[in-house]
Amino acid sequence: MVTASAPGKLYLFGEHAVVYGEPAVACAIDRRATVTVEARDDDHLRVHAEDLTLDGFAVEYGRDPGDADVDVPEGLVEAATGYVDAAVEQAREAADAPDAGFEVTIESDIPLGAGLSSSASVTVASIFAATRELGTELTPAEVAERAFQVEYDVQDGNASRTDTFCSATGGAVRVEGEDRRSLDAPSLPFVVGFDGGAGDTGALVEQVRDLGNEYGFAADTVEVIGDLARRGEDILLDGDVAELGRLMNFNHGLLSALGVSSRSLDAMAWAARDAGAHGAKLTGAGGGGCIVALDPGEETRTALQYSPDCEEAFRAELDTEGVRVE
Ligand code: MEV
Repeated sequence: MVTASAPGKLYLFGEHAVVYGEPAVACAIDRRATVTVEARDDDHLRVHAEDLTLDGFAVEYGRDPGDADVDVPEGLVEAATGYVDAAVEQAREAADAPDAGFEVTIESDIPLGAGLSSSASVTVASIFAATRELGTELTPAEVAERAFQVEYDVQDGNASRTDTFCSATGGAVRVEGEDRRSLDAPSLPFVVGFDGGAGDTGALVEQVRDLGNEYGFAADTVEVIGDLARRGEDILLDGDVAELGRLMNFNHGLLSALGVSSRSLDAMAWAARDAGAHGAKLTGAGGGGCIVALDPGEETRTALQYSPDCEEAFRAELDTEGVRVE
């Protein structure tokens, strides 16, 4: 039996634009998905998910998740099993054990589909744990690449390498196409607001792609987000929190123009700014989920806690540790 964990992450700059080759800057945070994997003596997969805002359920099936016999909506089964299923397939391939079966238990304090890379963290931790359970040790970079293949397949090609690389390596990262690097970034005063909702990453990426194909100025907006991310990277390395905040506000506005914000994400961003945050923006695919604000004091978290659009507000720290054995 092997237990591994991997951190969630938030985007400082560049989500969506990174899918089209622009740079993105993201930071791993101290919220983790923990996955325990135990080999079975048949080729079945049993997934037990806890705390994934799914209220917890267990599902067991053969090679086809369609065989699953559970008393929960199909969408939830897909959410819990889709990434794990593909991750297990990657582990079988990496360990040259095509018939390996597993008991998989997932515990996570990363809200599902809310812009903090829950799926990437589960995928990274699953591949890491399952390969070790089969006696094969992959490096974080190898895990990241296999996890990217999982996201790419599950999200119908609508994925960049950012989420999986950041979750595998930890710390702050910059991703531009296939170029992935760690950044020596200072710790930042992150405050996260979560509206209790989720977005469909694949559908939202598709929506931005369609917009860019239809309107030149939407495609230009994507390029401007790339310019912002380049500038943001320099400012991050300088540690100028006030200027970072201003650029984050700008990035949120551009994402909003691309149609991926929502009433609650906008309301939380404004609640944070009104409370004196240096800046605030949505993180991840959008549509619902989380915003990230910068505030060293308590005002932003308090304001978010009292905002009717916010279900949970919490501080987050940069987590410099990527995937690891627990
Ligand atoms: C999703 O967390 C971030 C997106 O940029 C998609 C991706 O980069 O894979 C929307």
